[in-house]
Amino acid sequence: MSYAIIGFGKIGHALAKAFARNGIEVAVATTRDPESIAADAAAIGPTIIPQTLAEALKADIIVLAVRFESHSDVAKALPNWKGKTVIDAMNTQAPLEELGGLPSSAFIAKVFTGARVVKGFNHLVAAVLDQDPAVHGGRRVVFLASDDDDAAAEIGALAEDLGFAPIQLGGLSEGGLLVHARGKRWGHLIFKDLIACDR
Ligand SMILES: NC(=O)c1ccc[n+]([C@@H]2O[C@H](COP(=O)([O-])OP(=O)(O)OC[C@H]3O[C@@H](n4cnc5c(N)ncnc54)[C@H](OP(=O)(O)O)[C@@H]3O)[C@@H](O)[C@H]2O)c1
Repeated sequence: MSYAIIGFGKIGHALAKAFARNGIEVAVATTRDPESIAADAAAIGPTIIPQTLAEALKADIIVLAVRFESHSDVAKALPNWKGKTVIDAMNTQAPLEELGGLPSSAFIAKVFTGARVVKGFNHLVAAVLDQDPAVHGGRRVVFLASDDDDAAAEIGALAEDLGFAPIQLGGLSEGGLLVHARGKRWGHLIFKDLIACDR
């Protein structure tokens, strides 16, 4: 399985650190030349590989860590998203009307036609996601939601490999709403930094 993080800002860095901590290779890409992020990537660890967007999009599992406004530029970069698993780590303040009345990740699933979309790694601020998830004798919780059970399980396994404790919330329009950040209608689990105790 190959991985890529699209967007190498605050969330991209936080997730790259989790991959590096666990010795898992991941491509990172922005709109810029990979050389321009090479020093930053190297500072995180040798498993963080700067690539062009086109190269990075060859990965099986792709994390969207760009600002929501940039999602369509990423979507357009591939003619077809069939066979890809997309992790939507984005939040948006866009009015519901702009999203066809859908929760943001359900909207993303429509835009990235053919991809299996899992909402995840979006509910914590980057400064918290950035930290080693092994804390207080347990593991930091990440919430996952998807309309595809197999994809949810696959990303659950990745979250475990990255050291987190995944909790599956169900479909994008049901469980996903609990971690949906939009205007004044914040999901009840947004910013809840929970630790699962391993017993
Ligand atoms: N910051 C947080 O605490 C936080 C918490 C939870 C969720 N989120 C969500 O995570 C996402 C990223 O937030 P952030 O704070 O990490 O943003 P950020 O620091 O502004 O980083 C965005 C990154 O995306 C890159 N980018 C922009 N357009 C792109 C494109 N078309 N293709 C590839 N890369 C592109 C930018 O690089 P270039 O412009 O150089 O290409 C930059 O590296 C947002 O959707 C946000 O809502 C953020």
